[in-house]
Amino acid sequence: MKRIVVKSSKKYTIIIDKGILSETYERIQPVLKGSIVYIVTDDIVDSLYGSVLADSFKNSGIHAYKYVIPNGEISKNSDNYISILNDMANKGISRSDTLIAFGGGVPGDLGGFAAATYQRGISLIQIPTTLLAAVDSSVGGKTAIDLKEGKNLAGAFYQPDMVICDLSLMNTLPDIVFKDGCAEVIKYGILSGNPLFEQIRKPIKKNIESIVYRCIKIKRDLVQKDEKDTGIRQLLNLGHTVAHAIELLSGYTISHGAAVAKGLHLVTKISYTQGICPKEVFTQINDILNIYGFNTDSLYSAKDIANAIIMDKKRSNEYINLILIEDIGKCAIKKTNMADLDSMIQKAMDYRG
Ligand SMILES: NC(=O)c1ccc[n+]([C@@H]2O[C@H](COP(=O)([O-])OP(=O)(O)OC[C@H]3O[C@@H](n4cnc5c(N)ncnc54)[C@H](O)[C@@H]3O)[C@@H](O)[C@H]2O)c1
Repeated sequence: MKRIVVKSSKKYTIIIDKGILSETYERIQPVLKGSIVYIVTDDIVDSLYGSVLADSFKNSGIHAYKYVIPNGEISKNSDNYISILNDMANKGISRSDTLIAFGGGVPGDLGGFAAATYQRGISLIQIPTTLLAAVDSSVGGKTAIDLKEGKNLAGAFYQPDMVICDLSLMNTLPDIVFKDGCAEVIKYGILSGNPLFEQIRKPIKKNIESIVYRCIKIKRDLVQKDEKDTGIRQLLNLGHTVAHAIELLSGYTISHGAAVAKGLHLVTKISYTQGICPKEVFTQINDILNIYGFNTDSLYSAKDIANAIIMDKKRSNEYINLILIEDIGKCAIKKTNMADLDSMIQKAMDYRG
């Protein structure tokens, strides 16, 4: 068992272990205040593990309600969000009760946002069930729903009271969903360097506990320094500015992880062609993306990607913070003029190394 303590606006513990879902009640008991837990999950997670979680509250004196959404990004919407709030109100959930967000990033973000806003905020426990949610979305307090106008457009920074990460739940993940999480792990490897970067040259499943632990610690350290994402936490966006543009251009038919892998590849090429990183770094990152079988082909033109980035960021100003790679373990936030994006991306794409 491993534990990580996050000291942000809320201090909380992340427990990483195998086979602990059935012990949820006793694990979260120290932070439980009321007599009701309200579980937000999706249909797949519920069919696999819903009863294990519910059973952990048997004979505890805690009443467990459950709200089940259809699985997938489509459910991270305002209708489900309002419907959850209405249901919580109808069931008499009070300010001292607790919402448990149980699933991947979708139930995590949606449930987290409901917890952040119901009666101006109630306790929140995150129980991630995907690799992506374990290493990324369950930690750090970003909660959100998508609007028709774009992804994650309504949300709140709202830290959980505890995170229970049961790695045995990953055994049932479809390969494609597990691979999505691997792209995020590779991001952490590039950001932090060795030992993680070397460790992930071997299959992640072999060392999952220590890899998840390392990734969460990297995120924890950045969140503690910059909880509201105005400075150094932006390093976690490595590959993501391009990834979000690719997701948008694909009409969200490309998964987040696949887009992150393409984004990591393109920012590595940009870093190299702008003279920011040496060729060996470019080769090492390509190698690792190949080990995991990521397709790094660009499906869109430089102009389309640049325009999609600009559309995504047009609410701020004429500059964008791009995260570029200087070395394995050394990335930097580079203020970039939006007008230069197209030519930077084109130059990177023209490089055939
Ligand atoms: N809040 C943050 O900081 C943050 C960070 C990264 C991503 N996100 C968000 O996370 C979301 C993506 O997360 P995701 O990839 O976990 O998506 P997801 O929640 O949709 O899960 C992916 C699929 O895996 C299934 N699944 C989940 N756990 C399973 C298990 N143990 N066994 C079998 N199937 C299982 C789900 O039912 C779903 O079909 C996006 O909405 C993204 O915006 C948020």
